[in-house]
Amino acid sequence: MSRIQTIKLITDGAAAPSRIYLSPPHMSGAEEQLVADVFASNVIAPLGPHVEAFEHEFAKAVGAPHAVAVSSGTAALHLALRLVGVGPGDEVLVSTLTFVASVNPILYLGATPVFVDSERLSWNMDPTLLAEVLEARALAGKVPKAVVVVHLYGQSADLASIGDVCRRFGVALVEDAAEALGATCHGRSPGTIGQAGIYSFNGNKIITTGGGGMLVAEDPGLIAHARKLAAQARESVAYYEHLEIGYNYRLSNVLAAVGRGQLRVLEARVAARRRNFAFYLESLGDLPGIQFMPEASWGRHSRWLTCLTIEPREFGVDREALRVALEAENIEARPVWKPMHLQPVFARYQHVGGTVAEDLFARGLCLPSGSSLSTGDLDRIVRVVRHAHRQVGRARRVSGLPSLKVEKRVFDVVLSALGLALLWPLFLAIALLIKLEDGSPIFFRQVRVGYRGHRFSIWKFRTMIPDSAAHGTSLTVGEDPRVTRLGRWLRRLKLDELPQLINVLLGEMSLVGPRPELPCYVARYSARERRVLDLLPGITSVGSLRYRNESEVLAQADDPERAFVEAIMPEKIQLNLAYSDEATLWTDFLLIIRTLRAVCLPSALGGGETGSLGAAARGA
Ligand SMILES: Cc1ncc(COP(=O)(O)O)c(C=O)c1O
Repeated sequence: MSRIQTIKLITDGAAAPSRIYLSPPHMSGAEEQLVADVFASNVIAPLGPHVEAFEHEFAKAVGAPHAVAVSSGTAALHLALRLVGVGPGDEVLVSTLTFVASVNPILYLGATPVFVDSERLSWNMDPTLLAEVLEARALAGKVPKAVVVVHLYGQSADLASIGDVCRRFGVALVEDAAEALGATCHGRSPGTIGQAGIYSFNGNKIITTGGGGMLVAEDPGLIAHARKLAAQARESVAYYEHLEIGYNYRLSNVLAAVGRGQLRVLEARVAARRRNFAFYLESLGDLPGIQFMPEASWGRHSRWLTCLTIEPREFGVDREALRVALEAENIEARPVWKPMHLQPVFARYQHVGGTVAEDLFARGLCLPSGSSLSTGDLDRIVRVVRHAHRQVGRARRVSGLPSLKVEKRVFDVVLSALGLALLWPLFLAIALLIKLEDGSPIFFRQVRVGYRGHRFSIWKFRTMIPDSAAHGTSLTVGEDPRVTRLGRWLRRLKLDELPQLINVLLGEMSLVGPRPELPCYVARYSARERRVLDLLPGITSVGSLRYRNESEVLAQADDPERAFVEAIMPEKIQLNLAYSDEATLWTDFLLIIRTLRAVCLPSALGGGETGSLGAAARGA
């Protein structure tokens, strides 16, 4: 086997693997000759003629005046941010819907990220939201140092609007075009419009060197400085002289040779990926509840990845169930990026908006999109997707909706109507007290995941300060300072949950059933745990009764979010699933009585779970 073959890259004409990958490398055949030239010349070490040629050819391909090849897209972004002046204490606005590499370099430089939500036209940074944040920052007297706009999945963000906004506020625009080589925006390549742009040649990208990146800019000084920093910032004297801190970020001559071979087929790769998309659209576009990522009017989507969203109520199963069905057939599909503002590691940073990105994450799936996919592969993928939809349709026709029994519905409607009729004076009193306390909204509404993945807005009395989501995570832990004085009292007596009688009347919830979770937590359910979505969510359940002091338990954990996701949530789901196997109207009635006793006489049932769960939470 030759040395080139040891680089595990799939070549044209190679036998298709039985596993279908999301986006595997796809060599043109020319790379082998180019790499052979490297070996023949023995210029293996970093730098060499292929690096220089790759930079020139790349710059020409994207229409950038200058380019420098580096070891990864992340390295390119690190250099770009440093060279537009980002440093400790600066703020940098960045798209929240992205891969973590768009954000890490901000932290490497000691700056603070602020996450900005997406718009629905392109799934990329919302320019209106960006303008609002910059306006507010300008009024407060401190404008962020830079904006990192990400061009996702092969589609450019709205660069005309984003560029205008950045110019208006004098903020540097850095483009993360790692995923968008081959796309266009008003005829230009995304990555070439801001002060600096970066690309990635990671193994799954539209062209690859196995690992590598490119930084482009109009300013030759910026590129010259990047070139120096990427080579340990060595001064150009014969001996080793250093005036500033640099990095070992240059691309090797061997990989640059691979890159040159890849660049020659870039247009063909875009065409192949767009053909994949057209095939999926043609073969799946008629299915209810499926929506493909749109192509925005301002340019060409390279369709690096074909992405879609699934509305479970219409399609029959949700995104995760479909992903699992594909995986069972040895087909790799991936959820859309989990937004950065939901990442535990970035929990303390501010985010602006976020619901669009959260929704795309909860419902979005990336289908296999490699440029080497065969028609047979595509047929296989389409068959699995259509089968997942058909099976659910059949199950519904045969058995109806098994967990929605008529008696339970009557029980729910009668008791919740009775509850509302008896408790309206209490409702009124609480509403008045909330208004008197801070004059802000009485109710708090939040999107939760219900029966079969259907989303709905849960009703609660507001117990936290307005806009609490901007000041912390979605979990309430211990003496959370966001909870108002009245809110503490309402929470202790669980009175904040009373408005959910409205959800029960609307048929979105039951009196007894697993608590409906936030989309970001449901996205983490295992295939087994997803069975809980076959139950109508409820106001009370064995799980919530057992862990009614959850926020105090979480307060003991080193990492509350992790403790919740890894220890508490799975245990509650197991309890609720076990309960549902045996549940009758009588056991539901007894559970409601136990819940009322626990609320009115907390000592009657003990203080809730603190022992084993507390230990689990601390250990998680
Ligand atoms: C949006 C985005 N930014 C940055 C990167 C980082 O590129 P690299 O893996 O080459 O460091 C990637 C992909 O890997 C990416 O998808």
